[in-house]
Amino acid sequence: MKVFEIIKFGSNLLKENKIPAHILDSELLLAKTLDKTREEILINLNEKINEKNINVFKDLLKRRLNNEPVAYILGEKEFYSKRFEVDKTTLIPRPETEILVETIIKIYKERKITILDIGTGSGCIILSLLSSLKKSIGTGVDISKYAIQIAKKNAQNHNLFNRVKFLNKSFEGIFSKKFDLIVSNPPYVENKDIKNLSDDIKRFEPRLALDGGKDGLDLIKKVIYKSKEILKYDGTLALEIGNEQIQKVSKILIKKNFRIKKVLKDYKNNVRCVLAINN
Ligand SMILES: C[S@@+](CC[C@H](N)C(=O)[O-])C[C@H]1O[C@@H](n2cnc3c(N)ncnc32)[C@H](O)[C@@H]1O
Repeated sequence: MKVFEIIKFGSNLLKENKIPAHILDSELLLAKTLDKTREEILINLNEKINEKNINVFKDLLKRRLNNEPVAYILGEKEFYSKRFEVDKTTLIPRPETEILVETIIKIYKERKITILDIGTGSGCIILSLLSSLKKSIGTGVDISKYAIQIAKKNAQNHNLFNRVKFLNKSFEGIFSKKFDLIVSNPPYVENKDIKNLSDDIKRFEPRLALDGGKDGLDLIKKVIYKSKEILKYDGTLALEIGNEQIQKVSKILIKKNFRIKKVLKDYKNNVRCVLAINN
């Protein structure tokens, strides 16, 4: 079989099984099989694929047909123009989180700050920030020891190990008061809504990264309370929140004497991030 035939074979099968982005997924899985980039395989559509690689491709395809997210099959995800290793212990970085990262970079450009990333997962937020904010240093904290291992690998891959520390513990156990910026994309899905998430998410992504308790706000509240203690005066708390959580989150922030500086909308025009100043 040639490259274009096998891509078609894979995409048809994925389409029949209602997998969205079936063409792209088929191309990515073939690129992974051949250890090439997607672009490289697409400029050689007539190249012949040997039997062994066809079988490898079919195995990857089976995983995708079982709804495993492509990022976990590939073992990586692009975030803010950088590749991050991911596995089933880390949330797959999302585009809405890039909006938060981009905004923070614009605000702090050229400045030297100390950053804490609460619930760092793959480390995508803190590492993207430190890549651009070159004078700054940061700490990522996560309760999952496996996620912290991945975050450390990503720090190494992006040559940031000298400016970042990763701690495997709950953020509730952090007492140092030194941060200019606290950023967090905490778990914020309401308990009862987890069953309504797509199969890709609910069967494969870590529950610890999703479950925000009864009203989805358990972790958000705790992050706000903790930030009050460990954020410098005039420092910024930058939070990603769930769709329709902004009103409740704003109330909690104001009650805790934060001043709302900015809210950010996602690509569907929903408010998904809030930046607040510690007054
Ligand atoms: C929504 S994920 C965000 C991952 C990553 N920051 C991102 O944006 O892709 C939330 C993360 O918070 C971590 N987490 C949950 N409870 C925590 C706690 N009490 N202390 C520290 N991390 C926690 C989870 O393990 C998970 O990695």
